[in-house]
Amino acid sequence: MIGVPLREGADIDGFRAAVRMLAARKAPPDSVSWCPAGESDLFGEAPVETAPPVGLPRALGELIRLVVCHSERERYALLYAAIWRVLNGERALLEIQSDPLVHRLETMAKSVRRDLHKMHAFVRFRETHDPDGTERFVAWFEPQHFIVEATAGFFVERFRSLVWSILTPVGSLHWDRANLTVGPPAQRCDAPEPDAFEEAWRCYYENVFNPARLNPRAMRQHMPEKYWRNLPEATSIAGLVQQAPARAREMMAREVAERQKRDPLKAVAAMAEQGPQTLEELNRLIAASEPLTPGANRAVLGEGPMEPDVAFVGEQPGDQEEREGRPFIGPAGQLFDKALAEAGIDRRRVYVTNAVKHFKYEPRGKKRLHKRPNPGEVKRYRWWLQRELSFVRPKLIVAMGGTALLGLTGKPHSVLKVRGPIELDGRAGYATVHPSYLLRLADEPAKREAYDAFRDDLVAVRRLIAANG
Ligand code: URA
Repeated sequence: MIGVPLREGADIDGFRAAVRMLAARKAPPDSVSWCPAGESDLFGEAPVETAPPVGLPRALGELIRLVVCHSERERYALLYAAIWRVLNGERALLEIQSDPLVHRLETMAKSVRRDLHKMHAFVRFRETHDPDGTERFVAWFEPQHFIVEATAGFFVERFRSLVWSILTPVGSLHWDRANLTVGPPAQRCDAPEPDAFEEAWRCYYENVFNPARLNPRAMRQHMPEKYWRNLPEATSIAGLVQQAPARAREMMAREVAERQKRDPLKAVAAMAEQGPQTLEELNRLIAASEPLTPGANRAVLGEGPMEPDVAFVGEQPGDQEEREGRPFIGPAGQLFDKALAEAGIDRRRVYVTNAVKHFKYEPRGKKRLHKRPNPGEVKRYRWWLQRELSFVRPKLIVAMGGTALLGLTGKPHSVLKVRGPIELDGRAGYATVHPSYLLRLADEPAKREAYDAFRDDLVAVRRLIAANG
């Protein structure tokens, strides 16, 4: 019997080396005993490094990478049994789904994949400070399998410029902006206390993961409201969920800002060069861009579900939107919400964004007075808007006001002339007025009439959506 000691956890390197050696010796699976390091001698006389590599089908390599992370003790023996069969005449073994060994390995791989996804999605960082004052984000997570090291690349890539630690009962990861250290297992009490955002984060991430995809309907499905009353945080859950995207974005924006500080040109240029591949990447680019007015707080990103029936495009965020980081929540937003509700459109099911992502204003004492973006500025943002909509993929786009029309078509239009169904850059669209236009009307009857017409436009939009199925 050949004893193969492997270190605790997912010892992919040890397993690979062992497979080479065992294959070189033509050792059948039943002659091998896989055991934790320290319980046996390794291979007697031959040093591991001298064994030649073993050529395995790519799919098997991928399966090995996942299954070594599984918590089942038998994992190495099962993998080696499959490798042995592949090397001994059953090259297409993995294609035989009915084979009990293949089925078992696939099931294990699926479980690991799910665990990886959960860890990517549910790690919650909380802000702490090291004794020397360094800001450190610390998370506690309990994976089902030995996946901690396998997730390191994901978190390094995502939060490269922050100092963070992920603590788990099977090992820990520490990143100091340059080096990754794999540390020993930790205990829950080593991590900071959860804060009030915990539940909101959990629901939010479980259902949306991508911060740009808030999906309260899915959230309710996941955790129906009837359970909320038994949750201590239930009274604040709605507010917390509302704030969760902003918190996620804040952390992401911080990451981008840190990257820029350290390597101003490379950080954004790298992403800009190949172009953002996802809405999340695009949003990071936007969040890292220069505001229109120096000193402004942040870019306001679009908000809502992906592939919605309709996306509404406004002009630019206002004062309140910019402070809170969400589109259409100030006075114009409230009027918009009212008209949407009266037209029978659920705001939570639509995507809402702006042609220009920054608040342009003129400081006046403590006030910030809205300034209309000029055509050059609107066109600068047009590329982003086009990318954004190509990721979001709404069935219909509603342009609210002239700036939205300019951003969506690249050409100036008089809203009152083109009002109604319109093609926007080859996509199905609808043009209407901007809700702030209604707020600016001084004459009450004219205001009421304009509001009714706006609401009727939204009713027409709802009918178009229904007609398009
Ligand atoms: N006006 C807009 O165009 N967008 C907002 O988000 C708020 C007001």
